[in-house]
Amino acid sequence: MTREYASGEAPGNRVPPYAAAPHFDPDDESAYAAWRKARLAGYPARIADLLVEVDDIAQPTADERRRLMFLVAACNMAVYVERRPHPGRDDKQALRALGLSLGLARLDGNHLADDDGITPLAVHRDGTRSRYIPYTDRPIAWHTDGYYNEATQRVRGLLLHCSRPAAQGGENRLMDPEALYIGLRDENPDWIRALMRSDAMTIPGNDEDGMTRPAVSGPVFFVEEGRLAMRYTARTRSIEWHADPMVQEAAAAIRRHLDGSGPTLFQARLEAGWGLVSNNVLHTREPFADDAAAPRLLYRARYHDRISAE
Ligand SMILES: [Fe+2]
Repeated sequence: MTREYASGEAPGNRVPPYAAAPHFDPDDESAYAAWRKARLAGYPARIADLLVEVDDIAQPTADERRRLMFLVAACNMAVYVERRPHPGRDDKQALRALGLSLGLARLDGNHLADDDGITPLAVHRDGTRSRYIPYTDRPIAWHTDGYYNEATQRVRGLLLHCSRPAAQGGENRLMDPEALYIGLRDENPDWIRALMRSDAMTIPGNDEDGMTRPAVSGPVFFVEEGRLAMRYTARTRSIEWHADPMVQEAAAAIRRHLDGSGPTLFQARLEAGWGLVSNNVLHTREPFADDAAAPRLLYRARYHDRISAE
């Protein structure tokens, strides 16, 4: 069975998708131009502009929280840097507390996550997890988290906390979907129309490991409650792009932008006590090499909520 949903559509939602955000309507050029100008005027220029010093994510101060929210409002992400180590702290609980302070409460239940919904990411040499790329030291191509989820399980907020970095590598490249939207729409608004098709990208079903996941078809860009959202993966296996030439052309344009070196592409290596706070921005993970005595350990929390200043 294939589930489909249209841009902006949610169960019981009768509001036209662009009512709260005419600038995302591919046919409203003047609203787009005004929004684009304002958006780019305050855009961070380099990764250093995304860093926010925090004393303890388990209890962020009002000022730390305000600075994180300010950056997320500007570009959908921020990278926190804890000023000091917290030996003996439960980093999972700390990450959960940070999420709550940012309005993130509804954790996405992933069948491989620990029971509390926050996933420790480390290399697994055997067992079920070892067959999934996140649990290896291999690179992970550009994606948004949960791109294979059904619309009811949409991942809107994404936090990553680094407890121990790899001996070498393991950087994340990062891009705000709104910056990508601007880059694509400036080149060809028809690409945006194609990527907003409700059947632009289909993830075939999966019956492995006790899961029964139906095929999920949907748009790449869509608007939810006035905010742009994105589901995307650069992987070429287990993914079906619509055969429409404009969709194919748009998918190639996305890859070109993500593989380029534009000013809105960032790269960060999360060190111990660092983390990403985001509205599920596009990201990669570069390959890494572990020190067997102190292997890389990140915690990932995915939420159905987004971080919103309102
Ligand atoms: Fe991811």
